Amino acid sequence: MQKVVIVGGGGHVGLPLALVLADSGFQTVSLDISTETVETINSGKMPFAEVGAQELLSKTLADKSFFASTDHKVIESADVLVVVIGTPVDEHLNPDPNAVVNAVSACMPYMNSKQLIILRSTVFPGVTERVKSLLATSNLFPEVTFCPERILEGHALKELRELPQIIGATSESGANQASELFEKLGVKTIIVMPEEAELAKLFTNVWRYIKFAAANQFWLMSNEAGLDFSRIREAISFEYPRASDLPNAGFSAGPCLFKDTMQLAAFSNNNFALGHSAMQVNEGLPLYLVSKLEEKFDLKNLTIGILGAAFKGESDDIRSSLSYKLKKILQFRARKVLMTDPYVSVDAKLISLEETIEKSDVLVIGAPHYAYKNLVTTKPIIDIWNLLGNGNLI
Ligand SMILES: NC(=O)c1ccc[n+]([C@@H]2O[C@H](COP(=O)([O-])OP(=O)(O)OC[C@H]3O[C@@H](n4cnc5c(N)ncnc54)[C@H](O)[C@@H]3O)[C@@H](O)[C@H]2O)c1
Repeated sequence: MQKVVIVGGGGHVGLPLALVLADSGFQTVSLDISTETVETINSGKMPFAEVGAQELLSKTLADKSFFASTDHKVIESADVLVVVIGTPVDEHLNPDPNAVVNAVSACMPYMNSKQLIILRSTVFPGVTERVKSLLATSNLFPEVTFCPERILEGHALKELRELPQIIGATSESGANQASELFEKLGVKTIIVMPEEAELAKLFTNVWRYIKFAAANQFWLMSNEAGLDFSRIREAISFEYPRASDLPNAGFSAGPCLFKDTMQLAAFSNNNFALGHSAMQVNEGLPLYLVSKLEEKFDLKNLTIGILGAAFKGESDDIRSSLSYKLKKILQFRARKVLMTDPYVSVDAKLISLEETIEKSDVLVIGAPHYAYKNLVTTKPIIDIWNLLGNGNLI
């Protein structure tokens, strides 16, 4: 049985992959620097929400096809090493091209040249080549591939078994070994060069980010003209396939799309007007929303309740959530701000939905959770998502 060690294996991408591989005939280990995460996983509890993962974690721990560890020594007996640590941009929006290189560096004392290395974090283009050069300085010549993750957080277990896998490899042997691994999950593979795969992943995320920005800009224009964008969008996309992918308005945030747009901007020497414009539109939405609230209400004498803290609907992930940006702005402009979320458990300041509704004068949907869809209240609800189906003119 092949042994796979996943570096960063306690995270949103690493853990689902480890579980699915364990369920597909591999012996897998999640290697992570977070002791807390490793203890949580080994105690049988998922550290975050992911459909079907709790059951799979219990099963794979019980049949001993999976465990988590903080000890790099587990790498010594591995056939395959997957590296999928987080790759955020810093507070000045600079990517850190050395994050993955440094993580690999810590693994090197335990590595050997027979191993297959799969880099899976979303990276600054050129990182795969850097990792290869670094390994060579220690006389390590394993096959190094770049195989990006393209799952939708929350649906990883399903999508890992469905989405075609892009494989960036420079040698036939590396491409074959990586293909064999992913084909065991029942997916098709596409072989390209590592830099093509690195860019493919960035382009995928940035394309989505720009699409959301276009929709948000259209919403903003419609709103300024006193028109309901949701009606216009419906008219455009009705039985018209070429516009069927026009998204609705809404906060576009989270741990990937924004930072990957900034990674691509840095890669193109900051000559990425489209990406920066998309950032301005998407990140500017909370401010625009508050300016509209100020036109409609006497904000400084009102309590505003934000429904949904997560960065997207049906998620418990608050990383880079624009609900928190909205909260920050409102804390300055309104009398009081309250926030609630049925899924988020990492913020002690959140209160129940009932209390939020009761104590607020105006409600704003921050994340379109289904729980808010049939909300019954006489309080005004600001809903740029059109979750409630009443349009999104504010
Ligand atoms: N979240 C998504 O939906 C998604 C989808 C596709 C791709 N990605 C990409 O996958 C990568 C990981 O994202 P994520 O959301 O899983 O991040 P995450 O923060 O949830 O997980 C990263 C994990 O790596 C661990 N870690 C950090 N440095 C380490 C090191 N040196 N050695 C061992 N463990 C280390 C952390 O403790 C954490 O558990 C990023 O590059 C991201 O852009 C994410």
